Amino acid sequence: MCGIVGYVGRREAAALVLEALKRLEYRGYDSAGLAVNSGGRLLVEKTAGKISALETRLDGRLPKGHVALAHTRWATHGVPNEINAHPHTDCGGTIAVVHNGIIENWAPLRAALVKRGHKFRSETDTEVLAHLIEEAYGPAVPLETAVAWALKRVEGTYGISVLSTREPEKIVAARHGSPLLVGLGDGEYFIASDASAVLQHTRSVVYLDDDEIAVLSPDGYRVTDLETGRIEKPVSRVDWDLSSVEKGGFRHFMLKEIMEQPESIRNALRGRLLEDEGNAKLGGLNLTDEELLSFNRVVLTACGTSWHSALIGEYMLEELARIPTEVEYASEFRYRNPIVDEHTLVIGISQSGETADTLSALREAKRRGARTIGIVNVVGSTIAREVDGGIYIHAGPEIGVASTKAFSCQVVALGLLTLHLGRLRSLSVLQGREVVRALNRLPEQALDVLARASEVEKLVSVFEGTSNALYLGRGYNFPVALEGALKLKEISYIHAEGYPAAEMKHGPIALIDDSMPVVFIAPRDAVYQKIVSNIQEVKARRGRVIAVVTEGDDQIAGLADHLITIPETIDPFTPVLSVIPLQLLAYYIAVHRGKNVDQPRNLAKSVTVE
Ligand code: F6R
Repeated sequence: MCGIVGYVGRREAAALVLEALKRLEYRGYDSAGLAVNSGGRLLVEKTAGKISALETRLDGRLPKGHVALAHTRWATHGVPNEINAHPHTDCGGTIAVVHNGIIENWAPLRAALVKRGHKFRSETDTEVLAHLIEEAYGPAVPLETAVAWALKRVEGTYGISVLSTREPEKIVAARHGSPLLVGLGDGEYFIASDASAVLQHTRSVVYLDDDEIAVLSPDGYRVTDLETGRIEKPVSRVDWDLSSVEKGGFRHFMLKEIMEQPESIRNALRGRLLEDEGNAKLGGLNLTDEELLSFNRVVLTACGTSWHSALIGEYMLEELARIPTEVEYASEFRYRNPIVDEHTLVIGISQSGETADTLSALREAKRRGARTIGIVNVVGSTIAREVDGGIYIHAGPEIGVASTKAFSCQVVALGLLTLHLGRLRSLSVLQGREVVRALNRLPEQALDVLARASEVEKLVSVFEGTSNALYLGRGYNFPVALEGALKLKEISYIHAEGYPAAEMKHGPIALIDDSMPVVFIAPRDAVYQKIVSNIQEVKARRGRVIAVVTEGDDQIAGLADHLITIPETIDPFTPVLSVIPLQLLAYYIAVHRGKNVDQPRNLAKSVTVE
């Protein structure tokens, strides 16, 4: 989704913000722009397409100046063209605004501004901000006061940064629902929507909260509320390595992140397993055992891939911890009239920790008295900061738009939570130890699966010329079927459906013929014999079967056209291993088709608009 970078200091700002902006390319965008405060003038350059197109247009002639803003736009209001790209300026071209989020009341605001004589150039919601600020920016009014005045008139979500020629050494930034942080350097300050943009320059950051304004100049920064009352903010340290946001010799971030899974799973487990007690230690939950026992229901809420891991969590929590659990799409939950109270534990799962729907669902749950916890990857993200407690999955930065290592680590985190709740409720120490042993083996087993990547790559030929595929699984591997299908469609643009294998008979079976690849996820688990029957049903209709099975499986070997094997583990953790070949399969097919694997069309890494 949109990205913001800003700089005030002593260095040449344009080159710096453009380089930093490239670190946000992974978020997905369709146009880019730059504004530099240059010798009393505001120089703005914008283009449709990638940052490289903007650089080509500038042809090495970067505007000079020590204060700049840059932006990548993911279109919401108005097509992705040069005019709609940010920054947007006021009538006089002396104020520049970049904005992430959506101004919901832009239409009446725009109509009123036009009536008062403002001239609009773009179709965007953002441009109203530039004109509103212009209205309030009288001779004796500082920029931050004019920004606050404007923001009190808008509804919706924003992370904004603003420049003005009248105060050329200043950036004013503000947030409501769209993440922003201030990076602290020595005599220089940064504003960014994502820490990876500033990592090269500083690891000290201040995360802005909703309705806060930051004022940056080379002499320092301050954070205030919308009434300009000063707020003291803690400085956080970003621990990520710069190498973790670079490709490190891999052709794509997605492949790197798939390959990192043994290490990321190890990190998700580190220090959390109590082998003797057969239990898990989860320091960040902020819930006592008594409180955990007081819940009579769990609601898991998330979007996309994280929703798939939530489904696995539901199966685990009901089977091993014997606690009634439901899974809700966050976008549905937030607008229903959900039944939650103080006895409900609501768990939001989010890689980015910024997904607008998941954040709002958690806020709604909190409002209704539920306790909320987050299973989150990005440390310091909004969800991580707003929930009552949580579990960081420690997958490390996930740059590829298609989520991979976050999924496996989410399942591991849900496994740890299930183990802990299970030991409080229903699991014996011996059962707990079995779960601990299985978790401990996962990093090595994931490595084993990855060692077979070249076998998966050969399956690309099965998908040659196909425009449809079916993914089928049962039990814990039904959500893996959904995830495998999602991976394929989002990066290769092949239409793929995930289904519970038995449900296939109630419709999708009509699609099966000898040109239809059908991927079965069928490890030897509690529903193994059932899925063998489903494979037979597909073979009877001459479907082309690719099966992900447990090592040593002779029965499915005799039925399937192609086999991928995974090591044996206990049923709840089979998804951690079975998803890996499906991630690789999607990756190799997309590469073979020449698609932009890391930045698939139309998609954004963190969906900060609803
Ligand atoms: C798919 C994918 C998306 C995200 C979804 C939620 O590969 O990445 O479906 O899973 O947008 O994002 P988070 O987990 O950041 O809340």
